Amino acid sequence: MRKKSIHKAGALKGEISVPGDKSISHRAIIFASLAEGDSKITNLLNADDVMSTLNAFRAMGVEIHDDDTSVIVKGVGIRGLKEPDDIINAGNSGTTIRLLSGLLSGQKFFSVITGDKYLRRRPMGRVVKPLTKMGARIWGKEGANKPPVAINGCSLNGIEFHSPIASAQVKSSVLLAGITASGRTTVYEPYLSRDHTERMLLAMGASGGKLDDSGFYIDSGSTLESGEINVVGDISSAAFFIVAALIVAGSEIRIKRVGVNPTRTGIIDVLKQMGGDISLENIGDEAGEPVADIVVRSSSLKGVRIGREIIPRLIDEIPALSVAAAVADGATVITGAKELRVKESDRIATVKSELGKFGVMVEELEDGLIIEGRENIRGASVDSHGDHRIAMAMAVAALRAEGDSTIKGVGSVDTSFPTFFDIIESIG
Ligand code: S3P
Repeated sequence: MRKKSIHKAGALKGEISVPGDKSISHRAIIFASLAEGDSKITNLLNADDVMSTLNAFRAMGVEIHDDDTSVIVKGVGIRGLKEPDDIINAGNSGTTIRLLSGLLSGQKFFSVITGDKYLRRRPMGRVVKPLTKMGARIWGKEGANKPPVAINGCSLNGIEFHSPIASAQVKSSVLLAGITASGRTTVYEPYLSRDHTERMLLAMGASGGKLDDSGFYIDSGSTLESGEINVVGDISSAAFFIVAALIVAGSEIRIKRVGVNPTRTGIIDVLKQMGGDISLENIGDEAGEPVADIVVRSSSLKGVRIGREIIPRLIDEIPALSVAAAVADGATVITGAKELRVKESDRIATVKSELGKFGVMVEELEDGLIIEGRENIRGASVDSHGDHRIAMAMAVAALRAEGDSTIKGVGSVDTSFPTFFDIIESIG
């Protein structure tokens, strides 16, 4: 297991770029594979999770060529995928297994998808239930609730699905099944989750559309046009540096070309509410996704209360946000975040146990956390629990903590952000 030692940092200064957005990178490969003709993807995230998706499409007969600056995907059309010879391995990637389950339910061949030991503990019932309503034939462990899943692809019917949870993976899985289903497939969710699938479908000419703030439909017979996709920087990766610059005294950094889709910017809203000096500059647009430079200066933070409505807009940033809360003035209360229990680790439990080792008082709620901020935190020896975002959040805490810290299990960082520690060194 790889370990990393981190010392308290001096002021963080400089201009950095974070790698391409993970969610958009998965979708770029999926939709370019399903398009008619060649697509060129630039700034695709080169990390294990995205490679799991890329390898899955190669295994289904899609030619994907990779050079240093771009990836060319030779799209095969929505009916052109081939039965894979072997089991598809999604590794640690929930997005890969959930989105592919929807897509492969409507393809006329047999497939099996598995993942690593962490993914094999994560629930699949959330996608299997609506897909089964569409006519999908899916089997899996624990009553088709855990991977591996086996899928006997068949003809599907469109449904109107009211998702009980705000989950982009569930929504996207059903919409991907909807691409080959008969009639119209509509998904509503309680709060709008990240809408990269919808934006990319529309940008590629699918016949679908928005129904209201949290509804989207796709009609049968959609075809997708190939083209160029330039992936914006990942705000979920940027979040670690935003928090680091806020909490390490004297810091000032600029993070260039980060995606600022409003379904993802909850972290900026909450950190500003806490008193963070954060501004967006050079605002623009890349293939239907808003983008900006994020400028951050160290700030005194105060505790804040956040609840259910904002959670889908910052679900992956709660480990980073918890570190900001740990050094804020007063308590931060996070509720309505039960989904954290089924992420790469149970992030309510792992934030409590690992942040606790820095001397921070953290109370675990069934659906959230109460974090008592304090002026000083002490260096600690912590564990990632195989979760990339826990490893990176604890590395950020270590930059502020007195003395030295050690993070065990930093190999997990490769799932989303292999250059994370190099960037810390470049500005620290
Ligand atoms: C993702 C959606 C989110 C997020 C995950 C990536 C996606 O999961 O936590 O890291 O790419 O669709 P849920 O949709 O299950 O909340």
